[in-house]
Amino acid sequence: MGIRVRSGMLKAGGLVLLVAGWAGWAVGAGAQTAQGAQVSQVAQAAQGAQAGAASGAATPHHAVAARPTAAATRPVTAATPPMGWNSWNYFAGKVTDKDIRDTADLLVSTGMRDAGYVYVNIDDTWEGERDANGKIQSNSKFPDMKALADYVHLKGLKLGIYSSPGAKTCARYEGSLNHEEQDAATYAEWGIDYLKYDLCSYGGVMRAQFPNDPAAQNKMMREAYEKMHQAIVKTGRPMVYSLCQYGWDSVWEWGPQVGANLWRTTGDISANFDRMSLIGRSQAGLAKYAAPGHWNDPDMLEVGNGKLTHDENVTHMTLWAMLAAPLIAGNNLTEMKPEIAAILMNKEAIAIDQDALGKQGDRIYAEGPVEIWAKPLTGGRKALAIYNFGETASDMHGIGLHLKEAGLPAHVTARDVWAAKDLGKITDAYKVTVPKHGVVLLVVR
Ligand code: GAL
Repeated sequence: MGIRVRSGMLKAGGLVLLVAGWAGWAVGAGAQTAQGAQVSQVAQAAQGAQAGAASGAATPHHAVAARPTAAATRPVTAATPPMGWNSWNYFAGKVTDKDIRDTADLLVSTGMRDAGYVYVNIDDTWEGERDANGKIQSNSKFPDMKALADYVHLKGLKLGIYSSPGAKTCARYEGSLNHEEQDAATYAEWGIDYLKYDLCSYGGVMRAQFPNDPAAQNKMMREAYEKMHQAIVKTGRPMVYSLCQYGWDSVWEWGPQVGANLWRTTGDISANFDRMSLIGRSQAGLAKYAAPGHWNDPDMLEVGNGKLTHDENVTHMTLWAMLAAPLIAGNNLTEMKPEIAAILMNKEAIAIDQDALGKQGDRIYAEGPVEIWAKPLTGGRKALAIYNFGETASDMHGIGLHLKEAGLPAHVTARDVWAAKDLGKITDAYKVTVPKHGVVLLVVR
């Protein structure tokens, strides 16, 4: 997927405000979503029936918001972008039961759970063999999945797991092909709250069955995703359903139809600025496909991983928040530095991501390495991000804020999120130095 960096003006589509009323500047994710999300029309009835049932003592607040209907009040799964942690980006194939328990402990003690990071997701390599009845077993790294789920739930967290519609996962462990209902039932029995379903070897099945017929391959893929969706619904247990097929076949156009709460829009992220920023920038134009219950997923966070600098980590967090992307941390919490914790737990950045309006941001202007993105927020506010993807600091070289293109009046009241500073009234003439690979994030009204 190529990035579309252009000189000149790019209009963001659909900057329409649905909610009036001032929501305040520095509102944490919990407070924002507690006000109730504007939810989509695609209710997941069966999932809704037991929403929240999985949570333990401290019920996480952000994941499910009530939707008042004439008939009943039905919660929407993933009313705001899911937040949590996933094992792949740091632990990859080495992840163990102990790593998950340590992570659960640390999500609580560091404050991450209370900041909204409630899902603890085990990625690939937990899978063992099937027993004589075809029931999937976890492997020796995960001696007792039910006990692990109980442990995680007692911490007020939720547990996620991973599988594939193919016979093998991407790491060549056991997939769910021809065992979909059985696997969903097993996950429900264990107490699983989130499933990432990764295409992997099923791509080969599709190609073998319909060589040179992409339309027929696509139909097979959709049916495979729908099949697991129905299997989850049948369990009666709410599970966030996360599609991973690398953004093929414009998944954002049909993801909701196969029950997806989120769908990967790209290939894998890695912990370097080029890959991370390429993915972030390439999301321009996808805003209209995001809505409560249905999110574009540019992959999990690498904040705190690899050699990302402070400014690069801040840019990463800002890109994802502006995209209303799922915030699934991927770092090793046992060695999280305070600087990384501060970025991941910045309340105002999280509130932008989790804003109850459920609107994804889009690029409104680009000139060379400088890009301005806007995201509509509740209360008539907007988040504006001024990115500098270049190799030297930029004083914006005469680039204005493009308030008009963001649907804003000529004078706005602004707050600088990362500087935690109220700026008072500003106009298009606002100037700031944006560091190399850095960003200035404003909330304006
Ligand atoms: C990839 C996927 C990664 C990770 C990995 C596990 O296909 O994109 O996020 O899940 O498989 O094998």
